[in-house]
This record gives sequence, structure tokens and C-alpha cells, in this order.
Amino acid sequence: LQFSEETEKQFQELVSRYPNTQAALLPALLLAQSEFGWVSVEVMDYLAERLELNPAQVLSTATFYTMFNKQPLGKAHIQVCTTLSCALCGGYEIIEHLEERLGIRLGETTPDGKYTLAEAECLASCGTAPMFQITFSDGEIEYYENLTPDSVDELLDELDKKLEQLPAPAEMH
Ligand code: FES
Repeated sequence: LQFSEETEKQFQELVSRYPNTQAALLPALLLAQSEFGWVSVEVMDYLAERLELNPAQVLSTATFYTMFNKQPLGKAHIQVCTTLSCALCGGYEIIEHLEERLGIRLGETTPDGKYTLAEAECLASCGTAPMFQITFSDGEIEYYENLTPDSVDELLDELDKKLEQLPAPAEMH
């Protein structure tokens, strides 16, 4: 396991910007997640080695933050915005509804590999809050806006069919 050339450059750059490697851990985890799709134990060990940190330190940071996926991503990676406008307009209710409907918590993937649920920072669609973004396993990205629990249910009914046609997440990397 190692970073691509491009990611390695970004990694070197970010390490040089922080006073110590402990401070660089959070951005390094984000970088690793965007490179590998999720933060496996192997990824955590790799970062611990690269940053000369204790693996337990990396594990506890990755576990504490719900934005890190500790399992491979599902075919639909749902990222629900919970920044101010979305939070005020029911973003957290949308998360609760998704958790209930999908039977998973934030940061988890459904056992059938279809959905991963995550929280996101403002996705620049504040005027149509609450909203979420879905990244599909074929690389397509869609925004869904003015959400209500009912519209989420309708959408998931439609997506269930679409997802049958998409490649399995494991084939992505
Ligand atoms: Fe949710 Fe901006 S606050 S898109």
C-alpha cells in the first residue's frame, strides 16, 4: 500500500505545513480516504508509519470522527450536509431517517454493499437545504435537494433498482 505520486506530493506538502506529525494526522487521514476510498487498518498502519505515530493514536482518531469510512464504500455513498442551513432545515432528521431505513449508522455500509452513509460539510447548495450528495460506484455524482423523509424514501426505492446495475464497490479500486 502506498500513495500515488500526486497524493504523495500533497502528503509531503501538508506534513511540511504542520508543526508536528500529530497535528497533520487529521488532514492526512482525509487525504488517505480520498486516495483509497476508505480507512482500513492497513491504511491506518501506513499512516502511523509515515507520520511516525503510534498506530493506536491513528486508530483512535479515525474511530472518533464519523467522516472516516471504516468499511469499503457502498455503491451509493450518501453524504448528508449538516452545515448551518441544512442543519436548520432538517439535515439531522434526514440522517436519522436514513439510519432507520438503511439499518446503519453514520460511517457504516449496508451489509448488501449498496449504501454508505456519511455526514458532509456545506456542499454549496444551501438555498435548497436540506440536501445530500451521492457518489456512485461508477464515478457519477448527483445532488438531491429540498429533501423530506418522504422524498428520501421515494429516491431510495428508485435507487435500489439503479444500484443493481452498478459495479460492486470492490471493483472500484
Ligand atoms: Fe448544506 Fe450549504 S449548508 S449545502
